[in-house]
Amino acid sequence: MFLISPSILASDFSNLESEISAMKRAGAELIHVDVMDGHFVPNITIGIPVVASLRKKTDLVLDVHLMISNPLTYAPQFADAGADLIVFHIESDSNPQAVIDAIKAKDKKAGIALKPKTLAESVFPYLGQVDMVLVMTVEPGFGGQKFMTDMCPKISAIRKECERIGVSPDLEVDGGIDCDTIGQTVRAGANVFVAGSALFGKPDYTDAVAALRKAAKEA
Ligand code: DX5
Ligand code: ZN
Repeated sequence: MFLISPSILASDFSNLESEISAMKRAGAELIHVDVMDGHFVPNITIGIPVVASLRKKTDLVLDVHLMISNPLTYAPQFADAGADLIVFHIESDSNPQAVIDAIKAKDKKAGIALKPKTLAESVFPYLGQVDMVLVMTVEPGFGGQKFMTDMCPKISAIRKECERIGVSPDLEVDGGIDCDTIGQTVRAGANVFVAGSALFGKPDYTDAVAALRKAAKEA
């Protein structure tokens, strides 16, 4: 089953409640929240209070993507704020195992993300413990960038290793996903799709979500 996770980075932040309700009506299953700290990535976005506010307004799965240093300190705070799924970067300065354990201790789903230059093999030791692996298909930090086709072999390698060891975490792709690029990620093994500009940039969200899902199904 394919799941669509609209990234609010491309939304109108002054109307967040109506933006996420519209995405729910449009059929999206998750809401992707890009948290950036100006240190792990060269941009600053939003944090814990915004997740807490969103939690009060939606029952969509809050898919929180931490592009921050020291996720071990902050992941539990995002859990308390109401995140459902907390995704941290393997390249961060925290011990990955400790971060997974901290998220699980809060009874939340844990995900591990890789930047484009990070090898697939780096997440292999954690595949049996995470609920999701997020393969970045752009350099993290900004929306609206061009999809990196050369990330598809990495998606396939992770999917293949999951099958080899008999686990099935969700495999999410993030960055430059639209109707033209989604198909190749499906063929590589992705099943959860983050899209910012391809959804919030469109006049009709229902049409935009439907078009993306159709392109995934036809891949
Ligand atoms: C980039 C973020 C993405 C971004 C995707 O660092 O992690 O989630 O918002 O935006 P688009 O879909 O516009 O590439
Ligand atoms: Zn993201």
